[in-house]
Amino acid sequence: MQKRKIAVITGSTGGIGSAIADQLAMAGWDLVLVNRNEKKASQQKAALRAAHPDAVVDLVQADLMDIPQIKAAAQTIIAQHPQIDALYNNSGVLTSERVMSVQVHESNYAVNTLAAYVMAQALRPALRRDDNDTNTMIVNTTSSAHNSAKSLDTETLSAPKVIGGLTGAYATTKLALTTMGTAMADMLQGEGIMVRSVCPGAVVTPMTKTSNAMPGILKLLVPLFFNAPEKQAAKMIHAAKIDSFGGRTGIYITNGKEKPLPKLALDQDVQARLMAKLALDAAL
Ligand SMILES: NC(=O)c1ccc[n+]([C@@H]2O[C@H](COP(=O)([O-])OP(=O)(O)OC[C@H]3O[C@@H](n4cnc5c(N)ncnc54)[C@H](OP(=O)(O)O)[C@@H]3O)[C@@H](O)[C@H]2O)c1
Repeated sequence: MQKRKIAVITGSTGGIGSAIADQLAMAGWDLVLVNRNEKKASQQKAALRAAHPDAVVDLVQADLMDIPQIKAAAQTIIAQHPQIDALYNNSGVLTSERVMSVQVHESNYAVNTLAAYVMAQALRPALRRDDNDTNTMIVNTTSSAHNSAKSLDTETLSAPKVIGGLTGAYATTKLALTTMGTAMADMLQGEGIMVRSVCPGAVVTPMTKTSNAMPGILKLLVPLFFNAPEKQAAKMIHAAKIDSFGGRTGIYITNGKEKPLPKLALDQDVQARLMAKLALDAAL
């Protein structure tokens, strides 16, 4: 019998994360769900177990606005699952209010970029494959909003002067996430770990329905024109398949289609500055 695969999903209680969890369980994966809200996570686990009795669903609690909690969550995961097959860095925030993390990073940066870096680095031992035959996958849930960020200033990433709306700190921190993805894809290739930056497209979720950073007019259009999470989750899962998209790492996929990476995400100097900042911030 084929060994069941294990995926770690952050923010599985949200719109897209929840649909990814459900579809992976249906496809025969076991799940480790990393969330801050224990009640919501427990309810989700019960629903998943009822719908997919064969699936093992483990819950790990962590607020991604606190780096020690992310590292502790990763240690718990590795203790239970020395090998995992995929990490969906799905959690994200879209806010125009200034909210600071425990380590005093602005929340868009803390959750959208730094938490994904810390989780990926901390889970690296479990994702690593030395057999030259198998690969594992890190999917960083980015956003096509990264195209509206015209610069990536590592000096102001964690303390931007203006938070702004969809095209403000959110866009910049998603550009940072995409850039991190290209840098990490090169760095981790020798370990059998692939990294893809994947945007789900426009999706009806609590984020797009309620965020104060969504332009008012766009918010009105959400129920009319945005896609259902189930439809876009299927595209995310396809984008995470090792063999899809020619089996390539370090690419950007949006709404199921590969698109060119932003120029800044390919700039070696920008990558080097960003990776140095992330390493510094991750060390506390
Ligand atoms: N919806 C779209 O159209 C769209 C488009 C492009 C990209 N994206 C990206 O897709 C991803 C999923 O977004 P979504 O639309 O599904 O939003 P969502 O429904 O708001 O889900 C976000 C998830 O992230 C979790 N989260 C936020 N802050 C956290 C923290 N400090 N610690 C732990 N978990 C935290 C939330 O937990 P709680 O349930 O506890 O709040 C929730 O589970 C995000 O990265 C988003 O940027 C979405």
